[in-house]
Amino acid sequence: MPPLVHVIAAARPNFMKVAPLMHALRRESWCRTELVHTGQHYDASMSDAFFRDLAIPTPDHHLGVGSGSHAEQTAGVMIAYDKVCRTARPDWVIVVGDVNSTVACALVGAKLGIRVAHLEAGLRSFDRTMPEEINRVVTDSIADLLWTPSPDGDANLKREGVAAERIERVGNIMIDTFEMLRPRIEEEAGHRRFGLEAGGFGVVTLHRPANVDDPAVLGRLVDGLAGLAQRIDLVFPVHPRTRKMLQTAGLLARLEACPRLQLVEPLGYIDFMGLVTRAAVVITDSGGVQEETTYLGIPCLTLRPNTERPVTLTEGSNRLVTPDSLPQEAEAALARGRRTEAPPALWDGRTAGRVVDSLRRHLA
Ligand code: UD1
Ligand code: UDP
Repeated sequence: MPPLVHVIAAARPNFMKVAPLMHALRRESWCRTELVHTGQHYDASMSDAFFRDLAIPTPDHHLGVGSGSHAEQTAGVMIAYDKVCRTARPDWVIVVGDVNSTVACALVGAKLGIRVAHLEAGLRSFDRTMPEEINRVVTDSIADLLWTPSPDGDANLKREGVAAERIERVGNIMIDTFEMLRPRIEEEAGHRRFGLEAGGFGVVTLHRPANVDDPAVLGRLVDGLAGLAQRIDLVFPVHPRTRKMLQTAGLLARLEACPRLQLVEPLGYIDFMGLVTRAAVVITDSGGVQEETTYLGIPCLTLRPNTERPVTLTEGSNRLVTPDSLPQEAEAALARGRRTEAPPALWDGRTAGRVVDSLRRHLA
């Protein structure tokens, strides 16, 4: 029987990393591939919509873990995945990104002696107040094989003592998903549904705990967005965490009162990228969106003091901003327009193929 590979999917940003990998691995006969969904994200708009848009196969195992504190969620995934591994006995576990399920499944695999590969390894914000930074550091320290998207990832891992032969630069797999769906994204005219003209609006996403969990910080962001909405139309698909915090802090009504700001439910990938590709500017704290805008050259203003994706600053269209600097930065971004330089190396839509080749070599 060929070796068994488990691919772990858990939360929204995982689905666009897992889709091309599942499609590529399912074409191979030298391994069997099973998809495990931990259930970290479970709303239809945060999970099912992506299985549909990205044609991800139905998971072979669904752990149904859901939300909770970091400890509850991480432990819940570990307990449930440990049971699956003891029965299914995978030879490799592939984890992607930096969410709680990533570190949970990596820990389970490592402790059962199953080899662990991490796709999107080596990224560092050097900010340990970010839950994802802890997940990245721990996952990379126990993974057997580390697939990086950019040279900074290789350098970070080497500095942390990871042996060079365990690091392979494969590029950015999210670009594979974008290229796979580009025709449908370009066809999609969802901006018209919002009454918007291509090139004449901004897209907003926010969900980082550091931005949305403290009502005072969130209030400053709401003020900044309300100010910007006097200058340009904005569409804001609201993450469930953010909606909950806006409601709790009594800030939702202030945003709803802005005539040029449209608050909508989280969008599916094709709808969302349909808007992003036609946006004049994107305002975000998302990791993935910093990368997608860099690939497309669309001005991106990231509401964070740091980024684990520095190539989006040095070789892309991303700028780090604060609520206070947002108005000037937005004016500058609108004046600057799109960046036309080539995207970072290996962000080329062929990362899944490199990952599959690498895995085959390591299995042999
Ligand atoms: C998680 C990841 C974060 C990633 C983000 C992408 C961790 C530590 N965080 O953050 O790195 O950037 O996903 O979106 O793994 N909720 C729902 N429905 C859902 C999912 C969540 O209502 O389908 C609500 C729940 O109230 C939940 C809260 O959102 O408590 C937060 O969800 P959680 O998965 O813990 O973290 P995210 O903020 O989504
Ligand atoms: N995304 C989406 N719909 C939305 C917001 C984001 O499809 O309403 C996509 C986005 O294009 C990117 C991914 O979700 O591919 C990023 O996920 P998220 O921002 O939730 O997480 P992060 O990347 O910050 O971990």
